Parts: sequence; C-alpha cells; structure tokens
Amino acid sequence: MSTSTTAVPDTQTPSADSDLLAPLSPAVRQLLRSRRSIRRYLPQPVPQPLVLALLEAARWAPSAHNRQPWRFCVVTSDAAKAELSRRMSEQWQRDLAADGADPEFIARRIAISHARLTASPVLIVPCVTMEEMDVYSDAQRNEAEYVMAVQSVALACENLLLAAHDLGLGASWLCAPLFVPALVCAALDLPGHWRPQAILTVGYPAEGKEKDRAPVAGRTVWR
Ligand SMILES: Cc1cc2nc3c(=O)[nH]c(=O)nc-3n(C[C@H](O)[C@H](O)[C@H](O)COP(=O)(O)O)c2cc1C
Repeated sequence: MSTSTTAVPDTQTPSADSDLLAPLSPAVRQLLRSRRSIRRYLPQPVPQPLVLALLEAARWAPSAHNRQPWRFCVVTSDAAKAELSRRMSEQWQRDLAADGADPEFIARRIAISHARLTASPVLIVPCVTMEEMDVYSDAQRNEAEYVMAVQSVALACENLLLAAHDLGLGASWLCAPLFVPALVCAALDLPGHWRPQAILTVGYPAEGKEKDRAPVAGRTVWR
C-alpha cells in the first residue's frame, strides 16, 4: 500500500477517464477522441490544397533544437504507388518465406498490402534526416540525437493525422518502410540522407472505426 501523500486523481473508472478531457475545448476534445486509423478510402482524389494543409500542419510540430528534421515525399501517381508497392512486396515476400510462412498466407498478405497502397489516393512518406542535427564524438549521444530526430518526425506525423481528421479525411500509418528504407528511397528517388519512417495513407474514408484506450491510471505513476 502506498504511503505517499501526493494527491492522486481518481482515474480508475472509464467514465472518470473520459471526463479527464473536460477542461479542453469541445472541438479539441472531439478531435482527439474521434480520430481513428482509416485504411479504406473512397476512389476520390484529395484536392492539393488539402494535402498542402496537412504538410503545413506537420511543419508546426515541435522538433529537437527546432531543426525540423522531417522530410516528406507525397505520392499521388498510380505508377509511383504501384512501383513502391511492388518493390516493398518483393522484399516482404522474401522475408516471410525466410521466416517459413505458408505460401498462401504470404500471397494473401502481399495482395492486401498491394491493394491498400495502390487504392489510397495519397501516400505521404515521412522521412528523417540527420543532416542538420548535432554530431557528437561518442555513440551514446549520437544515438540520443537520432532518437530526438525520429521523435520530431513522429510529432509532425501526429499533427498531420489530426489535421487530416479535422478536414474530414481518413489516414493511417504503415510501418513497412522502416524495414526497407533503402528500397523505398530507390523506388521514390529520394535523397540518400532521407530515412523513410512510414507511409501515411490518406483519402476520404470508406469505413468507420471504433477503438478504445487503456485508462490513464494504468499507464501513469505520480510522484
Ligand atoms: C508507429 C506506428 C506504427 C503503425 N503501423 C501500422 C501498420 O503497419 N499497419 C497498420 O494497419 N496500422 C499501423 N499503425 C496504426 C495502429 O494500428 C493504430 O494507431 C492503433 O491500432 C490504434 O488505432 P487508432 O489509430 O484507430 O486509434 C501504426 C501506428 C503507429 C503509431
């Protein structure tokens, strides 16, 4: 039993947890709570001003030393999407086969992934660059600097995902490029110092999603 005298808010029940957002404005509360990862889209293009609004939202994220180590590649052409998907699929197929996966399972997973990438109206590939980040004389600080740069890119992506939701767009994060960064750079002809972190698929939603979260209490300690 805790002997702490720190006042710990009661966040044990789901209703108490959802009430924790009460101090926020209704618009922000709704935005934070209702954004979901949307993976199926209507076959309808996203107007370029909206794509630019997403990138602008990303740009206002905080970043380590304000160096803004994010770079984005926007993919809208069918040919580029297909080529990116083809190259990633080839490697994924090899990796799954090396893992001993069943060929039918592999074919199904590859087909789903290909359909997802090629049917998304817009793909945004967020990348990290270390070009303007600090360089230290030891590996530990260089590692910390790299993590800071990646964290900065992730924050920019969260801005982008929330802005997409605010615009009535759906979006989702795909982690695959993290496993094959050189291949993604080659497929999209990206500068060598850009390290692809993900693919954000974007489009008008063709599905709704429900997801919940574990309560604050189980994920937080107070001191
Ligand atoms: C770092 C990261 C990697 C993710 N990778 C994938 C992915 O490869 N495929 C996918 O369908 N969703 C991916 N997601 C989306 C998560 O599955 C999703 O955010 C989570 O299930 C919560 O659902 P929600 O976003 O609808 O609230 C990823 C999310 C993050 C933050």
